[in-house]
Amino acid sequence: MVGQLVPSPIDPATSGEDFWRRYHEFRRVRQAETRPDEPLRADADEEAHVKRISPFRGEDRYEISDHGKMLGLLHGYYTKPESPEYESNKHLYGADIFVRGADRRRRIASSFLPVVVELMDSSGCTNVSFWADEDSGHRFMKWVGAESKLTEIESRLMFSDIDWREMERWVEEGPRRSPDTRLEIIDGRLPENDWEAFSSQLSGMLNTIPFEDLDHGEIVVTAQTMRDFYERLELSNEVQHTVLTREPEGTISGITDVMWAPYRSAFIEQRFTGVRPDARGRGLGKWIKAAMLLHLRELYPGTRWIATGNAGSNAPMLKINRALGFKPYRTGNEYQIARDRLAQRFTAR
Ligand SMILES: CC(C)(COP(=O)(O)OP(=O)(O)OC[C@H]1O[C@@H](n2cnc3c(N)ncnc32)[C@H](O)[C@@H]1OP(=O)(O)O)[C@@H](O)C(=O)NCCC(=O)NCCS
Repeated sequence: MVGQLVPSPIDPATSGEDFWRRYHEFRRVRQAETRPDEPLRADADEEAHVKRISPFRGEDRYEISDHGKMLGLLHGYYTKPESPEYESNKHLYGADIFVRGADRRRRIASSFLPVVVELMDSSGCTNVSFWADEDSGHRFMKWVGAESKLTEIESRLMFSDIDWREMERWVEEGPRRSPDTRLEIIDGRLPENDWEAFSSQLSGMLNTIPFEDLDHGEIVVTAQTMRDFYERLELSNEVQHTVLTREPEGTISGITDVMWAPYRSAFIEQRFTGVRPDARGRGLGKWIKAAMLLHLRELYPGTRWIATGNAGSNAPMLKINRALGFKPYRTGNEYQIARDRLAQRFTAR
């Protein structure tokens, strides 16, 4: 039995039935409190995800449990030296803390903070990020002394609200404005011989995303990270769909991708959309987005909504999303605090 208010490390590889029972009960409580309209992964799929060791991302988990009930959970993550992103991300640690509603204001979350500092030290990190989109999270961050560095808006597009005629017009307009550009639709994994070219174009585009004041490293996608990503998707039979545009000499000029999963089959996650800076201003963004929606209507006619996240400052992306009918649903903030300031905060209290 784990003593009350004492964080205890979790080793997913060796954890027994008792642990998984309280872990699954806890994640259901969290989902009901924070995302009541979104289904959860099946327990077996979740276990496979938690147990899988990523070659590129290190993960730490600690729990505070009492009488067989999990009250709070810390999930930390950092970039491993094996990652192509290591050089510019090695100082960054990410932490997520959740305490079940009925057990808040008992200093459970704060008792994880010394553990966060120890974990940062063992992975060589000097700055930690936390995500908060609830009032309790914002207030806790204020108490911790972390600063908000990035505002992110989650927007949702109800499938029933889509103006399909307008989408068809956007798709007709694409080749008219860019007659030499070809549109491609890929369901599932991209062909392996495309991974090198695709990952280098995608990396370039991803690094044009505005991150506001966030201390962040470079995003580096490679053929190896793509393989790792696809392997992770397979654990819960998730399917990626990609629409891209290609210029006559072969360069990929625009990319948009979404994720569909059987456990939440009526809800699609719109991920990245990007157009190369030298191909902007000729309607490629609208073309790929509209082509994706028309494709999704054919594949998944039962879709209820599509969700996407954008930095509050990403005016061009928000403009396209608003034109498509995406409406703001929830806003959150990424907070950061330096390791030494975090250590001072909890020793001072
Ligand atoms: C944020 C969260 C983790 C805090 O957990 P907690 O165990 O209640 O936090 P603590 O008891 O350790 O709080 C420490 C201090 O933070 C401040 N604080 C925490 N929650 C607060 C709230 N809802 N309102 C005002 N102040 C709050 C208080 O000053 C508190 O000390 P006090 O109770 O002596 O005044 C919890 O509310 C939660 O799970 N929220 C949803 C998830 C989330 O937003 N996580 C964000 C961080 S990753």
